[in-house]
Amino acid sequence: MAVTKLLMEHMSGRVGFESVKGNGTTFWLEFPLSDNSDIVVWSDELSVGVDVIDRDHQEIIRLINELSPNNKDNETIDRVMKKVVDYTKYHFNREEIIMEVVDYPDLINHKLTHKKFIQEMDELNHKLKDSKTGKNRRVLRTFLYEWYYSHITEVDQDISQYAKGKDIIINEAIHGKSL
Ligand SMILES: [Fe+2]
Repeated sequence: MAVTKLLMEHMSGRVGFESVKGNGTTFWLEFPLSDNSDIVVWSDELSVGVDVIDRDHQEIIRLINELSPNNKDNETIDRVMKKVVDYTKYHFNREEIIMEVVDYPDLINHKLTHKKFIQEMDELNHKLKDSKTGKNRRVLRTFLYEWYYSHITEVDQDISQYAKGKDIIINEAIHGKSL
């Protein structure tokens, strides 16, 4: 079940079950109907090699995939976007803590890049809230995909060389500061 869940989430799907006492259990799988241009599927190409960061990125990509255009009402999009914004801030904070403890040399610029992204994302999100058009939704989704994809592959992956072999101090820093 755990492996199925992981595989499904990597393919932007969902898995779950419903149990009725005396009747048994129904397991369900949900696959996205969108074509490939609408979803990003997690692959090793996106791995930064730091567990905490990779898990955060997987969750963010999963959330962005939920913004897929098929049959989504405005309320759902608002709710998912709030999660994207909140999780992004939570993740940037964790990633910055990690960069700090592993003495990542480009910390200041990297933090600025995060800050600028949050501003741009907030602007596009407000624009969508003001005018809930398909176009604004598409612009926001494309921006999120493109930004995350290039940020992970061109910027975040640099962290791995400084984080190698430092799992213990990374975990201590993350748990220590998030308590
Ligand atoms: Fe980053």
